[in-house]
Amino acid sequence: ETKTPTPQWRPVYHFSPPTNWTNDPNGLIVLNGEFQLYYQHNPFENKWGHMSWGHATSTDLINWKNLPVAIPEVMSKDTTTWIYSGSVVEDKNNTSGFGTNGKPPLVAIFTADQPKQKKESQFIAYSLDNGLTYKQYAANPVIDLNKRDFRDPNVFWHEPTKQWIMTVAMVDEHMVRIYGSKNLKEWTKLSDFGPSGYTRNGWECPSLLPITVDNDPQKTKWVLFVSCGGDHGPLMQYYVGDFDGTTFKNDNSDDKVLTVDYGDAFYAAIAWRDAPANKKLLIGWLQNGKQETYPWKGQMSIPHDLTLKTTEEGVRLFQDPPAMLSKGLSKVTKGSVLSKKNIDVDNKAITLSKKGAFDSNSIWIEAEFLINDSKKVGFNVVANNDQSKKVVVGYDAEKQQLFIDCSSSERENKQAVNLVQTAPMKAVNGVVKMKVLVDKSSLEVFGNDGEKVISTMIYPDKDATGVSVFAEGKATLKDLRIRELK
Ligand code: FRU
Repeated sequence: ETKTPTPQWRPVYHFSPPTNWTNDPNGLIVLNGEFQLYYQHNPFENKWGHMSWGHATSTDLINWKNLPVAIPEVMSKDTTTWIYSGSVVEDKNNTSGFGTNGKPPLVAIFTADQPKQKKESQFIAYSLDNGLTYKQYAANPVIDLNKRDFRDPNVFWHEPTKQWIMTVAMVDEHMVRIYGSKNLKEWTKLSDFGPSGYTRNGWECPSLLPITVDNDPQKTKWVLFVSCGGDHGPLMQYYVGDFDGTTFKNDNSDDKVLTVDYGDAFYAAIAWRDAPANKKLLIGWLQNGKQETYPWKGQMSIPHDLTLKTTEEGVRLFQDPPAMLSKGLSKVTKGSVLSKKNIDVDNKAITLSKKGAFDSNSIWIEAEFLINDSKKVGFNVVANNDQSKKVVVGYDAEKQQLFIDCSSSERENKQAVNLVQTAPMKAVNGVVKMKVLVDKSSLEVFGNDGEKVISTMIYPDKDATGVSVFAEGKATLKDLRIRELK
């Protein structure tokens, strides 16, 4: 564990805890226009352990107010209970009876991990102070299968069947178990989904949510998300189908794996289901890998606004940073904003940064390239003067891939297979769009308005802060916008 501060890697417009460790986002809920973010947290050390729920709130998802630990670990003489991942619901009709009709409770549903007993079961706790503190339910657990790995309940109200629905991971079976409840205390098993798709590692953090298809409010599909380890780094997969209040039916065959994010960092994501304008905003833990940061470790991704679109391959998930972020971003925008049209890029990188402008490694780029006959287009970011260190983000027209190439900027925090990360993507009428989000130690690229996403962690040296645009061959940068944040 290092105690050397690493302010050069502290994100500016992504959430990170002021001190100590975080992993998964938990309990995402919007209360009176305020986004609540709970997170897996070790309040005592900068590494995983003493699992508790940290807490922060925001009205714009960029600027966060840090609050005290909301649910601490529970210690007794013969048991330690760690508060693993889970969700929070607003029990408006006081179905649980924890509140009063004038003052409905918030109910947290989470996994109690008891390391000494090698056991995981589902607990609930309630809050009567708007989510600041929670009281453990005296009759916990509410679901106990006497299992070692059984976790991450995600709960929502299902109006057509007038019940609470929970998805929870049967980790080693590669199954999602679906439960129903009238009061959040008594749960009835409704069905199992899986094994299906990727099953080489344990399943975690399932969640099921309805998403509008092709922007048509009459057309909804249910999407089931599962975090599932991965062959080389975290992998999240999703399934598209229907949910009738009992069973989730997958539209695709069981051998199909649909990938949420093509990078090596995005994991354990769940959504704010009740964001304004009926939006579903997914946020994930960006894993640090081996690199130590201090005095914190771990951060959240930028939120992904989820939509479904009918493509040649079927109904697929699209994820783009939500438009509502612009309000919060403008509060952290430095002087430097650049907007340009129709720049010819012809085999020579054009430097966009200079001293005092776009040289902070906290930038947001939006670009639209006309590919013409070029082989590759994109940006060199976190580059030093002679370009011997850099990360390349772009589009490979020959391979038809969006990519992040970290092979000239390595800190031994990536497996060799992850030095180049790619997502299949096609140009549309010769045009490729990308949003490139560099925030000190995270890099997220969204291709073609959210068709594909690659998220990764980077650890640039202090002298590696330059940005340039490049093309191999002739391309036109039709539209370029960069802003710098602080
Ligand atoms: C996912 C996870 C969850 C668990 C939590 C513990 O990253 O392993 O399955 O609840 O982290 O911190």
